[in-house]
Amino acid sequence: SSNTGAGAAGDGGGDELVTVGFAQTGSESGWRSANTESMKDAFSEDNGFELVFNAADNDPAAQIGAVRDFISRGVDAIVIAPIVEDGWDDVLQEASDAGIPVILEDRTVTSSDDLYASWVGLDFKKEGVTAGEWAAENFGDTPTKMVVLEGTTGSAPANDRAEGFNEAIDGTAIETIDSQTGDFTRDGGKTVMEGFLQKYGLDGIDLLYAHNDDMALGAIEAIEAAGGVPGEDIKIISIDAVHDGMQALVDGKINFIVECNPLLGELAAGLVTDVLADKDVEKANYVEDQSFTQEQAAEVIDSRAY
Ligand code: AHR
Repeated sequence: SSNTGAGAAGDGGGDELVTVGFAQTGSESGWRSANTESMKDAFSEDNGFELVFNAADNDPAAQIGAVRDFISRGVDAIVIAPIVEDGWDDVLQEASDAGIPVILEDRTVTSSDDLYASWVGLDFKKEGVTAGEWAAENFGDTPTKMVVLEGTTGSAPANDRAEGFNEAIDGTAIETIDSQTGDFTRDGGKTVMEGFLQKYGLDGIDLLYAHNDDMALGAIEAIEAAGGVPGEDIKIISIDAVHDGMQALVDGKINFIVECNPLLGELAAGLVTDVLADKDVEKANYVEDQSFTQEQAAEVIDSRAY
C-alpha cells in the first residue's frame, strides 16, 4: 500500500488505505476498552485506514511478536501501547531498519526516542502526584496506614504513579504498610485486597491507593465481603475516572479519582498521518487530565464520554 496519506476510502478514486498495525496491551480494564474503541474509531476505513489490531493479553513477549508480524507484513506504520517500559530496543530498531515509523500511544518505553517517531498519552507521574497531594492534604497529619494496589509490574503507569505519589506524601504521617501488583484488573485488585485484609484486618488499614479504578472496584468487593464500608472504614484513591469508578465515587465508595483520558485515537491517527507525510511532529504529546472529589463527580458523571 502507499504512503500517500489518509485518503477517503470507497470514493472510486483508487486511493489506497493506509495500513496500520496496532499492538494493544490486552483488555485488562475499563480504561483499556475505551482506549481500544477510540483507536478503532479513529483508524477506520472511513478515515482512510486499514487497521491490523492485536491485543497481547498483557504478555510482553507476545506483544513484541505482534510488532514483528506487522514488520514482516510491511504495514505503513505501527502504533504500540507498550505493556512494559523495558525491552523495546531490538524490535524498534527492526522497524526503523524496515523504514516503518512507530508511534507510541498511552504508555512509554525506556528506549532512546530516536527509535520512534512520536508518543501521545498522559502524564502518569503527574497523576500520581495529584493523587498523593490529595492524600497528604486529607490524611497527612494523622498516622495513616496505607496499602497500595500497583498496576502491571514494569509498566510506565505503575512505575510513574508510584513515584509521583511517594514524592507527594514524603514527610507526612502516611505510612505504606504493603504494596503489591493487582495487574490493573478487577480480579487482581480483589484477590490482593483479600490478602491485605487477612493480614492486617479491617482495622489495620486506613487508606488504599489503587493505580486504577478497576483494581479499586475489585478491592471494594473484598472490603464489603469482609464486612467493611469502603470509602469510610478504608478510604480509597484511584486513577482513570472510567464510568464504574466515577459511579463508585458518587456512591461514596471511592473518595478521590485522578483522571487518565483513554480517548487518544484521533491524536494517534493524526500523528500517523503527519509522520507518513514527513511533517514535523512533537516527540512527546501530553493530554491533560482532571481530578474529581465525590461532589465534583456527582456534577459531571452524566456528561462523561466513557
Ligand atoms: O496505561 C494506562 C493504564 O492502563 C490505565 O490506567 C489502566 O486502567 C490501564 O489498564
